[in-house]
Amino acid sequence: SLKCKIGPSILNSDLSQLYAESQRLLDNGADYLHLDVMDGHFVPNLTFGHPVVKCLRKKIPHAFFETHMMVQNPEQWIEPMADAGVSQYTFHIEPVLKDVLPLCRKVREAGMKVGLALKPGTGIEAVRQFINHADMILIMTVEPGFGGQKFMNDMMPKVQWLRHNYPLLDIEVDGGVGLNTITACAEAGANMIVAGTAIIGACDQKSVIASLRETVER
Ligand code: DX5
Ligand code: ZN
Repeated sequence: SLKCKIGPSILNSDLSQLYAESQRLLDNGADYLHLDVMDGHFVPNLTFGHPVVKCLRKKIPHAFFETHMMVQNPEQWIEPMADAGVSQYTFHIEPVLKDVLPLCRKVREAGMKVGLALKPGTGIEAVRQFINHADMILIMTVEPGFGGQKFMNDMMPKVQWLRHNYPLLDIEVDGGVGLNTITACAEAGANMIVAGTAIIGACDQKSVIASLRETVER
């Protein structure tokens, strides 16, 4: 059966304390870390790249690292991210629609799992032919670029369609997910839950992570 996994996004944490913040999330029950990489082109914001991820990996040797690649040219960062110790490379299909398949192969050849991400405006039919070549599909529930935005409930039909047609697929939701929106995600069939501000801003991280998990597993 499908496991529910909670992957906090560290985007809105104190990035001067990246290691401490990450370790605290893992100690509080996070199953993996969702690392938001932005290049200032695909999205109008910048975060960090493979050099930072590599440093974090040195201090946290064993946790599952997913990089959410909000970048115009995902091919460029496959090797550097693999070398930095990334576990799963999740890239947006929108800028590379004609190359998704070879990119999936490259990511796997580099030793990482492959995730395919869809912006809110991208229909599910765009990813359909690639699902069997991916380990996970990410349905964005906000416009990528910033944390702390409002959850888009109208993305749930995409999750439902995926779950209906692919009972064993890992389906991730990302953006505006918290205690008030997790039920919709769970009912639609998401099993990999990214939450940023809902976890980072909480005074009791451990109980928020536990509540999110409980709702999805119910
Ligand atoms: C948005 C990022 C998300 C974001 C989540 O572009 O991909 O991972 O940081 O943060 P919240 O949960 O605050 O929307
Ligand atoms: Zn993300």
